Parts: sequence; C-alpha cells; structure tokens
Amino acid sequence: MKKVFIFLTFIVLSFPCMAQGKWSIALHGGAGAMSRDRISPEREQRYKQGLQRALDIGVAILEKGGTSLDAVEAVVVYLEDCPLFNAGRGAVFTADNRNELDAAIMSGIDLDAGAVINVGDIKNPIKAAKAVMDNSPHVILTGIGASKFAREQGLEMVDSGYFRVSKDELAMVEMFDKDKNEKFGTVGCVALDQHGSLAAATSTGGMSGKKYGRVGDVPIIGAGTYASNTSCAVSGTGHGEFFIRYTVASDIARLMEYKGMSVQEAAGEVIHKKMNNLKGYSGGGVICVDKDGSIALEFSTNGMHRGWAKSTGESVVAVFKD
Ligand code: GLY
Repeated sequence: MKKVFIFLTFIVLSFPCMAQGKWSIALHGGAGAMSRDRISPEREQRYKQGLQRALDIGVAILEKGGTSLDAVEAVVVYLEDCPLFNAGRGAVFTADNRNELDAAIMSGIDLDAGAVINVGDIKNPIKAAKAVMDNSPHVILTGIGASKFAREQGLEMVDSGYFRVSKDELAMVEMFDKDKNEKFGTVGCVALDQHGSLAAATSTGGMSGKKYGRVGDVPIIGAGTYASNTSCAVSGTGHGEFFIRYTVASDIARLMEYKGMSVQEAAGEVIHKKMNNLKGYSGGGVICVDKDGSIALEFSTNGMHRGWAKSTGESVVAVFKD
C-alpha cells in the first residue's frame, strides 16, 4: 500500500515536468545574395510576417506536445503555400519555364526518411515526401512515379499553373541580386519535440533556370536534409551542388557525434571553414536544432530568411545578417 502511495505521489509530482518538456524549432525561407537596397521595409515586413506565421504554426504543435515530424511538415506546408518563398507556389522556373520541385523529410528517432524529386503537379511536395517515408518501402521517388504515388495516396494534385504567381505577388527570386547568378532558395524547418525527438523537412523549387532535370541538395538525405536523435536535425539552403559534394547536413551531425562539437561549433565549422572561399560557390546556410534543444543558424550569404523559438519563450524572425 505504502509503495502504491509513493508511486502515485511520484506520478503526480512529476506530471507537470512531463507536460512541460522542452522543445525548440527553427525555420528558414532561403539564403542568398540579398541586399537591403533591393527590398523596401514593407517588403521585408511581409517576409517577416510570413516567417512569423510559419513559426507560430510549428510552435502551436510543439507546445501541445505534438511531434517534431508534425511540426516541421506543417511549417513547410505553410511556406510552400506562401508565394513569397521558392518552394511550392511561388517556386522559381526551369530553363523550360516549368516548375520542378524537390522535398525531403527525416525522422531523428529511427533515421526514417522520404523525398520526392522533380515533381510539378503535387500541391505540397513535402506531404508527398512524408507519404513516401510513411507508406512506401522507399526513400526517394522521382518525377512521374512520384506523382502517381502521390495521387494514389490521395494527396492534392494541381495543374502546373498553380505554382506560377501573379505579377503582383512576390517571388523569392526578386529579392536576390540579379547581377549574380544566385537564384536559388529553399524553405525548411527543424524541431525538437517534448518527447526528445528531432525532425527536419526541406522543400524547394531549386535553382532558377536549371536544365536537364537538375537535382539540388534538398532531397538528398545528408546533403540538404538530415535528422538523428543522437546529434541534431539540419535543413540547408543555398548552392545545392556544393551542399551535395560536402554532405553538409550529415557532416554537421558527424562533427557532433565523432568530435564532440556543439551544434554551433559544428555548423560554423562546415559553413564558415570547410565551405569558405570555394571556387564557384555562391554561399548558403543551415538551420540546426540539437538533441538538447540548442539552435544554430549559420549562413555565408548576407541574408537568410529565418526564425526560431524555444519553450523558454524566446522567439526571433530575421532576414538580413544584421
Ligand atoms: N538548395 C536548393 C537547391 O540547390 O536546389
């Protein structure tokens, strides 16, 4: 009887701690050579509002004890639907004037992952990536096959005109310096939930003017997207070819695992040291959350649309470096 009483007392006293476990979330809406003189304060404000709304969606899920996977998917769905960013509606165009979208999602608990490549008729590519992870034995599906799978999964399909925004709407590419060929951007989200699990999701229209079915880093697990509960969750944005070659996302996780670096040190090491001054590299950035809820946002460009929040109450959205 006494043992039962002690056990019940323990449960009652520890319940508030369990219900208020810590969580962290970070998101990005692309990094690039953006400059303040190309963007009005009003426009900057619109981007910040978009980022804030996306952040609020993720925070609401995590606060209620929802999973990091649900949070990162919901945030990326919002950013895909928002025409400001280069993912889903508002994505950049290929050389053939089409949209070819890539997306990936990864679960840190079991290293499960799903991705789609070169899709142009799935309203939310990140949902298709999640369906690949959850409902297929595969990790990556491409093109026509990915679309067929998404249709079978009951996901919303759209005609190609859906992704094209009107002249009045803002596409991410307009913010970038047109003198430089740096017209890529991406959206992504990483999160730690109250259950201690990490997840990452990333979605993109890729590089503006891309040819020949070019694929960037986003759907390549370990390049632009990675999550492991033993280290961190990472979502990248930037010059995809270099993120693939430098296996950026998994390198950050490995530096933490094998060298004992903090998430801040590992992200800084990759973005500012290993990828410093590479020939032909146009820059990029990462958002990372580690298994303890620490956040790192590192970028080598002069701006990265970004935001983060923690269960401590801290919350920030920003566009430029300063
Ligand atoms: N990081 C986006 C891309 O290169 O496709």
